[in-house]
Amino acid sequence: MSPTQDIVVRAITEDDKADWIRALNTGFLRPSETWSEQELKDRTAHIVPARTLGAFDGDRCVATFRSFPQRLTVVGGGAVPADAISNVTVSPTHRRRGLLTRMMAEDLTAARDRGDVVATLIAAEYPIYGRYGFGPATRTTEWTIDVPRTGLDPRWSGPADGGRIDLVDGADVRKLGPELHERLRRAQPGAVDRDERWWRLNTGERGIVSSWTEPFYAVYRSAAGEVQGLASYESDDHWHDKQPHNTADVNWLIATTPAAERALWHFLCSIDWITKVKTGWRAPDDLLPDFFPDPRAARVTAQADWLWVRILDVVRALEARTYAGTGTLVLEVFDGWGSPRSSGVESGGRFAAGRYRLDAGPDGASCVPTSEDGDLVLDVADLAALWLGDESAVRLAALGRVGEQRKGAAAVADALLRTSRRPWCPDLF
Ligand SMILES: CC(C)(COP(=O)(O)OP(=O)(O)OC[C@H]1O[C@@H](n2cnc3c(N)ncnc32)[C@H](O)[C@@H]1OP(=O)(O)O)[C@@H](O)C(=O)NCCC(=O)NCCS
Repeated sequence: MSPTQDIVVRAITEDDKADWIRALNTGFLRPSETWSEQELKDRTAHIVPARTLGAFDGDRCVATFRSFPQRLTVVGGGAVPADAISNVTVSPTHRRRGLLTRMMAEDLTAARDRGDVVATLIAAEYPIYGRYGFGPATRTTEWTIDVPRTGLDPRWSGPADGGRIDLVDGADVRKLGPELHERLRRAQPGAVDRDERWWRLNTGERGIVSSWTEPFYAVYRSAAGEVQGLASYESDDHWHDKQPHNTADVNWLIATTPAAERALWHFLCSIDWITKVKTGWRAPDDLLPDFFPDPRAARVTAQADWLWVRILDVVRALEARTYAGTGTLVLEVFDGWGSPRSSGVESGGRFAAGRYRLDAGPDGASCVPTSEDGDLVLDVADLAALWLGDESAVRLAALGRVGEQRKGAAAVADALLRTSRRPWCPDLF
C-alpha cells in the first residue's frame, strides 16, 4: 500500500479518461465495460478534464470527482451559479485515507475562487458531506398509489379542462422537454438546469447509453395548445388469478401547472391493467395525493433528503433570494471546515465563517459582514437548509443546532426565510 502522501490528486487529462471511468465504475460497484475509442469519446464528451479530479496511485486511478457549472433556482425565482458535484468515488482499497477530503478541498476552493455562490450534490449516504459544510436543503417523497382505492372515476377518458394527453416518442421528448423543464426550473426554488445530454440519456439516444428499455412518454397540452407537462413511465407485466396487476413505474414527471399535474396523474391511474403506480421522486409537498378523492390511496414509500447545498458566499446567497416579510437578523455562521461538528477535517477553507447582518423586505435584501452580536448562531450546513426555505430555525433550535442569542430570533428567522411551498429539485445528477 502506498503512503497516502504519495497518492497524487490532480485534474485528469483526455488520456486518463478510460482509467478514470474504470475507477468510477469500481467505486459505484458497476461492472466495467469495454468501449471502443469512438464510444469512449461519445460517452465522455461531457467530462471536462479541467473540472475532473482523479487520485492516482502510481499510474492507476483510485478515486474520482467531477464538477460542472449549474444554475440553482432560489426563493423568488432568481438563480445563483452553483458548483455541481458528481461522480464521487474512492476505490475500496483506498478508502478512509482522506482522498475525498483532498478532492473536495481542491474543488471547493476552485469554486469559491471562480465566484460560485454554492456547491450542490445529491448524497449517496447521509453521513458523508455534512463535514464539508453541506446541508440537506431539499427533500423528496415517493408514493405508491393503490389505483382502485383512489376513488377516481373509472370511466375517465381525458382531462375535463379542455387539455389533452398524447403519447409521444423519444425524439418528441427531446424537442418538447428542454423548454418545458426550463420553465419549471425558473419557477421552482431548489430546481437546477438540465443540459441537453440529460434528454439524450433519458430518451435512450443511441451511442451514449449501454442498455435501454423504451418507456412510454405522455405529454399534456392545455386547451390553448401549450405543452405543460411530460411524463416517462414503464409497466411490468404481472397477472394472477386471471387478473392484470400491472405496476406503472414513473421515471419522471414534470409539469408547469397544477392542471397538467392533475391530468397526468389521472391519466396514469386510468390506464387499463395498471393497479399500482410508483410515483418516482416527487416534491415533499406534492399536490399528488390530494388529486384523489381518497388521498390515502397514495402510500409514502420513501422520504429522504435530496439536494445538498454548501454555501460558499453568504452575502450573495442571502441577497439573491426574496423575503416575504420585513426584518433584520444577525447570523453568526460557523463554517463546516473548522467547527466542532467537523473536527478531524484538516484542510479546506472557512469559506462562509463570520457574522452577517441581513436586512430583508419585500423589495429586496441587503446582507453585509458585521461585528454586531449574532442573533442566531449556526453552522453553514444548517444555513443552507434555512436558505432555500425548507427548514425551520425554531425546529433546529429545538435540536440544539441553532443557538438563539436573542430571544425570539429563531421565530423571526422563520418568518423571513420559510416559504409557503417547499423547495424541490426534480433532478438527480
Ligand atoms: C464515500 C467515499 C467517497 C468516501 O471517501 P474516503 O476517501 O473514504 O473519505 P475520506 O477518507 O476523505 O473521509 C473523510 C471523513 O469522512 C468520513 N466518511 C467518509 N465516507 C463516509 C461514509 N460513507 N459514512 C460515514 N463517514 C464517512 C470518514 O470516516 C472520515 O471521517 P474522519 O475525518 O472523522 O476520520 C467512498 O467511501 C466511496 O467511494 N464510497 C462508495 C461510493 C459513494 O458512496 N460515493 C459517494 C457518491 S455521492
